[in-house]
Amino acid sequence: MEKDLSRIGVSLPENLLKKFDIIINNRGYSSRSEGIRDAIRGYIRYYDWMSGIEGERVGTITLAYNHHQRGIEDVLGEIQHKYIDIIKSSVHVHMDHDNCMEVIILQGEGKRIREIFENLVKHKGLQHVKLNTIVPNEI
Ligand code: NI
Repeated sequence: MEKDLSRIGVSLPENLLKKFDIIINNRGYSSRSEGIRDAIRGYIRYYDWMSGIEGERVGTITLAYNHHQRGIEDVLGEIQHKYIDIIKSSVHVHMDHDNCMEVIILQGEGKRIREIFENLVKHKGLQHVKLNTIVPNEI
């Protein structure tokens, strides 16, 4: 048990909490607190990994969204046009009547790839925004 534990109150949508409880049960956590601590550690690890991305990279950003949201495709288009120097291609899949998935393929300076990712991830209308990169001369 870690020292100096702080207690926080978190409000969550009911369905999110249900899904989280199923996962922590499947993984054998002894409490929600333990599961939340582990999830936060994973979030911080991902952020730290991402913050270290620099130099020449090739990568993908995957995202999903409901295309009925007003203005969402304009925002997505605007951001992508701002980064045309590093965007090599993108693939759009109409997953069902409402939802779309897009994969953006990038090549260029890692810091700039991070910048476009940060622009996308903070947009509330976009879900599952994930970045993956490789160093071209290390494969
Ligand atoms: Ni679509």
